[in-house]
Amino acid sequence: MARNIGVHTVVTGFSIKFVGMETMDLAQREKTFEDKIKSGIKIEPKDWMPDRYRKQLIRMMSQHAHSEIVGMLPEGNWITRAPSLSRKLTLLAKVQDEAGHGLYIYSATETLGIDRLEMISQLHTGKAKYSSIFNYPTTNWADIGTIGWLVDGAAIVNQTALAKCSYGPYSRAMIRICKEENFHNKQGYQLLAHMMEGTKQQRDMAQDSLNRWWWPSLMMFGPSDKDSPNSAELMRWKVKMHSNDFLRQRFIDRTVPQAEAIGLRIPDPKLRWNEETQHYDWGEIDWDEFYTVIKGNGPCNRQRMQARVDADVRGRWVRKAAEAYAKKHMN
Ligand SMILES: [Fe+2]
Ligand SMILES: [Fe+2]
Repeated sequence: MARNIGVHTVVTGFSIKFVGMETMDLAQREKTFEDKIKSGIKIEPKDWMPDRYRKQLIRMMSQHAHSEIVGMLPEGNWITRAPSLSRKLTLLAKVQDEAGHGLYIYSATETLGIDRLEMISQLHTGKAKYSSIFNYPTTNWADIGTIGWLVDGAAIVNQTALAKCSYGPYSRAMIRICKEENFHNKQGYQLLAHMMEGTKQQRDMAQDSLNRWWWPSLMMFGPSDKDSPNSAELMRWKVKMHSNDFLRQRFIDRTVPQAEAIGLRIPDPKLRWNEETQHYDWGEIDWDEFYTVIKGNGPCNRQRMQARVDADVRGRWVRKAAEAYAKKHMN
């Protein structure tokens, strides 16, 4: 690119020649980039990449980091009300893991040249999105199980695919994060399985929880392929490895038998196994609800954002103190 060559102030006659060289250079860089993608070589932070690839990754990765952080709120709500010490410890560990995932992905996103403060300000001003699922309330203890089982389960399906994506820092972050998500998924399923062996009231609580979270979990995979404008480009660049609908189906196929195994009913009258396709057929997502939540009008959007902004204000003195401490030790 022109800015990396930096020799143009010579004689006018030469500058024409340089422009030609720059064009060639750009074409060459694009080719090297595309060749790497095709042959499965990871793109690393210092490699040349098209501006749009960089922008799309910043959008996706920062949205992912924000989701990890905002995702701590619905579950954090139950830490003080966990019914036993071991459940409390498990939940604390899980919520702490999510904080780690957020920080890890913020760092990976910074390798693309955006500052963390800028990402956080984009979140707080509503310019950046986070997963719509975290705008739903956690109204009973079974929700903690359902979130681990469904929400972390959906995250695993998404993130296992992202672990193979073309951007090195993102793909490597996913490998580690997926290991922790597996623990989150299993603790959630085990919690629900335990409740399903309990009293009728406990079984009803678990079923009520599944009824509320099933459809929002399916929405986590994003709009249907035909309404997903960025998908084709992201798939060509191997930023996305599979389409939204493909991953959603994969999630349904692996989750339905798990529900049946512990006696939970999926709240979808159209759900049935299709021998021919070897997949489950299922009903219709309420896309109006999805877009309402995405646009900021879900049940808890305002509450979640307020909690993040308040935490930012309350933590200001800690950041100042850390900065002063670092300065003192630099001298
Ligand atoms: Fe996570
Ligand atoms: Fe998780």
